[in-house]
Amino acid sequence: MKGKRDFLGVLDLSRKEFLGLIDAAAKIKKKPQAFAGTLKGKSLLMVFEAPSLRTRLSFESGMTQLGGHAIAYNLGESTVGKKESAEDFARTFSRYCDAAALRLYDHTMLERIAKASSIPVINMMTNAEHPCQILGDFMTIAEKKTLKKIKIAYVGDGDNNVTYSLMLASALLGIDIAVASPKNYQPKNEVVNKGKRVAKGSIHITHNPGEAVKDADVVYTDTWMSYRIPESEKPERVRKFSPYQVNASLMKKAPKALFMHCLPAGRGYEVTDEVIDGKQSMVFDQAENRMHAQKALILWLLGKMKI
Ligand code: CP
Ligand code: NVA
Repeated sequence: MKGKRDFLGVLDLSRKEFLGLIDAAAKIKKKPQAFAGTLKGKSLLMVFEAPSLRTRLSFESGMTQLGGHAIAYNLGESTVGKKESAEDFARTFSRYCDAAALRLYDHTMLERIAKASSIPVINMMTNAEHPCQILGDFMTIAEKKTLKKIKIAYVGDGDNNVTYSLMLASALLGIDIAVASPKNYQPKNEVVNKGKRVAKGSIHITHNPGEAVKDADVVYTDTWMSYRIPESEKPERVRKFSPYQVNASLMKKAPKALFMHCLPAGRGYEVTDEVIDGKQSMVFDQAENRMHAQKALILWLLGKMKI
């Protein structure tokens, strides 16, 4: 595909493109039948190294609704790294499919695959980023609030793919973000600096959850036990992260804020039932909006929609 674009990280998009995709996603959500059949005969390859509920279902249903087809392929069954190189894998799938989406741990491997692929490549989550999640999340914020002059607070594991994409998207859109996490679990400086280079809003890194959520429009958290983290680290992580739990007492400091979580949630760990099931919680809207946002993304990457 000539001049193909990939979506490996939030900053692969310009501010205008990011907002354009959110607008397009809102149109698709409002009138899904107007887009039925737009991807007739098109195939999306989905490669999974890590488990998934939302990502797998939202991409697969999204493709079906657009009249296309999604192929789910487990990396464990594949030839990559065993019988052939990442590059040969990419060159091969490019001959069968129209776009490829991958959930791999290693972001460098995803970059190698994207470079060798002649079809658009989408990041379905690596250790570095989860950009499709954040596209759906900002669509959700835009539906409930606005994307102008808001403050997002992230509380919990700072050295985390969702945190990184959230921080970079906030920077791209000129939104203020505060990240509160314990010592040794703060966002890596290289990602904070990458955000600061494009940021029109502020990026504030702290150890204090109360300070982070003060005046926040959104309070976001994610699991303390990401897929990549071995179970053996759980006791230590629970001990370190417990003061960072999003509970009713923390939410009292941000009474007008939306509560957001990418899911899967560790109820009783990073968030209490009363918060995730409470009025401020948007978690299932976020999950739904993944599908609308990804439909917009695929249509745009395949040249079927202008943004
Ligand atoms: N939020 C998200 O990506 O969920 P899954 O791991 O279930 O796909
Ligand atoms: N940070 C989490 C996100 C899951 C969608 C993980 O990497 O497992």
